Amino acid sequence: MSKLFGAFLVLLPLVAGQLNRAAKEDKKLYFGSATDNPEWNDTEYVRILSNTANFGQLTPANSMKWDATEPEPGVFNFTGGDQVVQLAERNGQIMRGHNCVWYNQLPDWVSSGTFTNASLLNIVENHCSTIVNHWRGKIWDVINEPFNDDGTFRETIFFNVTGTAYIPAALRAARAADPHAKLYINDYNLEEAGPKATAMINLVTALKSQGVPVDGIGVQGHLFVGEVPDSLESNLQAFTALGVEVAITELDIRMTLPATEALLEQQKQDYFNVISTCKGVSGCVGVTLWDYTDKFSWVPGAFPGQGAACPWDENLNIKPAFFGILDSWQ
Ligand code: G3I
Repeated sequence: MSKLFGAFLVLLPLVAGQLNRAAKEDKKLYFGSATDNPEWNDTEYVRILSNTANFGQLTPANSMKWDATEPEPGVFNFTGGDQVVQLAERNGQIMRGHNCVWYNQLPDWVSSGTFTNASLLNIVENHCSTIVNHWRGKIWDVINEPFNDDGTFRETIFFNVTGTAYIPAALRAARAADPHAKLYINDYNLEEAGPKATAMINLVTALKSQGVPVDGIGVQGHLFVGEVPDSLESNLQAFTALGVEVAITELDIRMTLPATEALLEQQKQDYFNVISTCKGVSGCVGVTLWDYTDKFSWVPGAFPGQGAACPWDENLNIKPAFFGILDSWQ
């Protein structure tokens, strides 16, 4: 074993725990990770997640969604979400609530219900108000994925019944429930310039001109290796120019498997580029990984043949991407 490699092994535990600390030194609020309750059977996973030198923020990947929190009309279940909050509080980590209104993971009574404009707005307001009130003092993805990639509004149960009225209704209900919550609209493919980013700019501009509370735009950051859009920085700047903060809320950078050394090096560069971009935009408050390890990534399930999207591998070992993130914050 060379001296150099020996020194690396000695230093590894030190450098393997600094992503959040480095982000905060760069005046960001946090570097964090999504997590899902069933993953906590893995004690080593929880140990790494709970190291606040690396992770200063948690987002529940599933347990605050509508199907989990209001499975029957007016019947709320906070169990899974409470567990995430308790873990975060025990560790001293900030929470992002995810989410109030999304077309996916809805209980049948919402996705297949028959509503009037007024009855559905009432349901949206009650849902947002109840969960934001229960989990107070958080950052919230109040509206999740309202747009199609061409910039038109996604034809969800909410849009089909209320038009865009559900958006201000949800945001106002959230603000009334907790004046201190940070209220976000969150979507994917906002990294590239184009109709979707323009639609987000137009929506937030309109909401603000109507006095509707909106504090942030969440840029999810589900990216593909070698394809981090050059426009990420100008988009973040354009969003913060509206008078809102931005955050990278669900970062992962997937590849076509198998993960070769060259792809992992490119991925390191890509993570470096995304984090550097957030670092360079003062209104970009933080970055969240959509889980930190390939062991629990959603990617292989959603994109067969793709994966290896996270900075920790399936055995919970750090990958080159870890150092891409660390280098960019420093
Ligand atoms: O809870 C059921 C369980 O009862 C059942 O046995 C099992 C069998 O498949 O499915 C379980 O539900 C799964 C759920 O995660 C909880 O594990 C769903 O099938 C699965 O589709 C669902 O995936 C989640 C996905 O959202 C749904 O769209 C992922 O975990 C979650 O990471 C992902 O997160 C989304 C963000 O919320 C929004 N942005 C995109 C991001 C990635 O898709």
